[in-house]
Amino acid sequence: MPQPHAPTALLPATEDGIIRAAALLRQGGLVAMPTETVYGLAGDARCPQAVADIFAAKGRPAHNPLIVHVSGPEMAREIAQVDPRAEQVMRAFWPGALTLVLPLRAGHGLAPAVTAVLDSVALRMPAHPVAQRLLAAFGGPVAAPSANPSGRISPTTAAHVMAGLGGRIAAVLDGGACPVGVESTILGLTGARATLLREGGISKDALAAHLGQMPAPPGDGRITAPGQLASHYAPGAAVRLNAMRPRTGEVWIGFGPDCKGAEFNLSATGDLAEAAARLFATLHSADALGRPIAVAPVPDDGLGAAINDRLRRAAAPRGAT
Ligand code: TXA
Ligand code: MG
Repeated sequence: MPQPHAPTALLPATEDGIIRAAALLRQGGLVAMPTETVYGLAGDARCPQAVADIFAAKGRPAHNPLIVHVSGPEMAREIAQVDPRAEQVMRAFWPGALTLVLPLRAGHGLAPAVTAVLDSVALRMPAHPVAQRLLAAFGGPVAAPSANPSGRISPTTAAHVMAGLGGRIAAVLDGGACPVGVESTILGLTGARATLLREGGISKDALAAHLGQMPAPPGDGRITAPGQLASHYAPGAAVRLNAMRPRTGEVWIGFGPDCKGAEFNLSATGDLAEAAARLFATLHSADALGRPIAVAPVPDDGLGAAINDRLRRAAAPRGAT
């Protein structure tokens, strides 16, 4: 069991570091691992204590289920009911930034708290080589929500994880900066119509091309992915969106070549992939200045939809649900 408030080890992403991380997971310990989207707080998805410790370390409400990371489609089929639509998108987008919510299969073996006792489960095969090597060395399903305190900015470096969760988890496996930078797209496949539960690293147009139809918006207004809570990814400072210029005292985060004088620029050339990769690190850095934050408009196409989703949540009134 991880000792509360024990020092958190920083492990290099070497063979030895990965073997040590896998051993910690087998002991029920928690290890932050790099993925291509953001760092995940990994624990054995079959171990009730490890899963309880994930919720406790993040301060995450028990009704918000975790994503289970698998080594591939084979492991997914052991845990969930994988229909032809799911097979199709797994073939197209795994490994990668797509999470599928699927009906659980009998005998799935997961700790019930992972799914918040729902009859569905969120599954993802990460593309990051360090995550893949850790999953292979561990040999089982790994629960891993983003490795940040609940409701705060997601981590895209080992230093972000240390700043947020240091002393509360066994180790951080340092794989450098996460290349995609926003979380996975979550696609719900529990009903007749595929549903987009969260915008993310795979655009809905790319999904539509493989599904043969646009995934439906969550629709009836019910919160089906609790990550949709309005206030999420929140910096300590207030955030103002669509700011063409800063007001006195504000830190201005620009986008594109027209934001001369901005203290930060998500992408000086207006490249959305670069902006996504830098989004959370820029919010972390801007927040550290302790002043209100203003963010320039970001176009809503492709990865821009996921960027704007995270920015709206960062700007939402705190404590909103
Ligand atoms: O890119 C990612 O998805 C990262 C990396 C670490 O893989 N993980 C991540 O996990 O963002 P987390 O826990 O921060 O977000 C998981 C989201 C939550 O919004 C949760 O509500 C939703 O997935 N979710 C999990 N299981 C679900 C289920 N059975 N039905 C609907 N939503 C579910
Ligand atoms: Mg998260």
